[in-house]
Amino acid sequence: MIQCKICNREIQLIISFGKMPIANGFLNAEDFHQEYFFELACGFCEHCKTFQLLHQPDRSQMFHEQYAFYTATSKHMSEHFEVMALNYIQHWLVTQKDPFVVELGSNDGTMLKHFTKRGIRHLGIEASQNVAEIAKKNGVETKCCFFNDTTAKEIQQSYGKADLISVANVHFSNMGEVARGIALLLKDDGIFVFENPYIGNVIQNVAYDQIYDEHSFIFGLNSVSYIFGCEELDVFHVETQETHGGSMRYYLCHKGAHNKRSSVTELLHQENDVLCLNRMEIYRTFAKNCERQKQELVALLKKLKAEGKSVVGYAATAKSTTVLNYCGMGPELIPCIYDTTPIKQGKYSPGMHIPIKPYTIDWYKKVDCAILFAWNHAKEIFDKESEFTKNGGQWILSTSCLQ
Ligand code: TYD
Repeated sequence: MIQCKICNREIQLIISFGKMPIANGFLNAEDFHQEYFFELACGFCEHCKTFQLLHQPDRSQMFHEQYAFYTATSKHMSEHFEVMALNYIQHWLVTQKDPFVVELGSNDGTMLKHFTKRGIRHLGIEASQNVAEIAKKNGVETKCCFFNDTTAKEIQQSYGKADLISVANVHFSNMGEVARGIALLLKDDGIFVFENPYIGNVIQNVAYDQIYDEHSFIFGLNSVSYIFGCEELDVFHVETQETHGGSMRYYLCHKGAHNKRSSVTELLHQENDVLCLNRMEIYRTFAKNCERQKQELVALLKKLKAEGKSVVGYAATAKSTTVLNYCGMGPELIPCIYDTTPIKQGKYSPGMHIPIKPYTIDWYKKVDCAILFAWNHAKEIFDKESEFTKNGGQWILSTSCLQ
């Protein structure tokens, strides 16, 4: 029997994407022989309504001193986090005396630097040493550790309780401990903001590339309410966000501390009565759609190859690891991927070992088609790469995410 990671009930397999490496595990050729793999399989729990990975790789395989994701590399995400920080300051912190803000998974400090600049007390919690060091260099107070109830107690002892705790696009495998830690660290009238890719968008858009090792769970309102409800934390407001192909921002507080807004009942109606995300059938259909998409993408790339077209990958995202390995597409179909992140350049993609080349402004000169793995930044990229399409270049989407 496979147990739900949230409520321990029995859970059914929805889909297995097969043997999968660590999504951000870009590697050198000499390390191919010792690459780590696990089975990427997902299930949906009918009791707590949480969509989740069935097998969790060891955390130290994912977050370490070589962690390859830096928030600041995306202009769009940097802007998103600036707007988020200003929103916190203007709407939630303005009335608080000497407020204290905590961000979990604070990465390179892209969000918290807006508090540093304004002299607002803050603390970032970041498990990967290399990105935590960058944040510290930028003046963002950062503690390099995993968050749980023990860490929460330590933070409380050193800094006091938090007026605001923010968590965006951070995916914990130990949700129970995290929820307990947040309940401990949050002031009585404090606000906890939790933002993640939304299950409704993943299912509707067949954006299966959102499923990878770090994304242990893909949340909806039902699951967020269940998980944090166990610690007497209540969702009192929600806002949709455009990031990552459709995200949801949940505002939580200690039970009864803030008035519940109509946004919550509206989303609940949408989730249960319109999208039917509380029912197993929706996930079974999703599994069939993933398989269909895989076949269509592989057929398209084989056809382009037969026609002599040159195809490259654009942006070595974590998401691309799921697509490439699930579809079994390696250098024979995609000879290289261009990416702007220095730590990935010169390395190879996890599992399929496609060379990652440094992005150059004339990357597209000999390219007929580019498979866009960073579809979540499509607008920014399409604007930036107008010369590619003007020269007859064609974009291919790795999933049907933008349809
Ligand atoms: P990201 O949105 O973080 O996706 P994921 O979470 O799936 O990794 O993608 C960031 C990657 O995309 C990073 O390696 C940089 C790359 N990238 C480019 O190469 N060019 C671009 O214009 C953008 C926006 C990203």
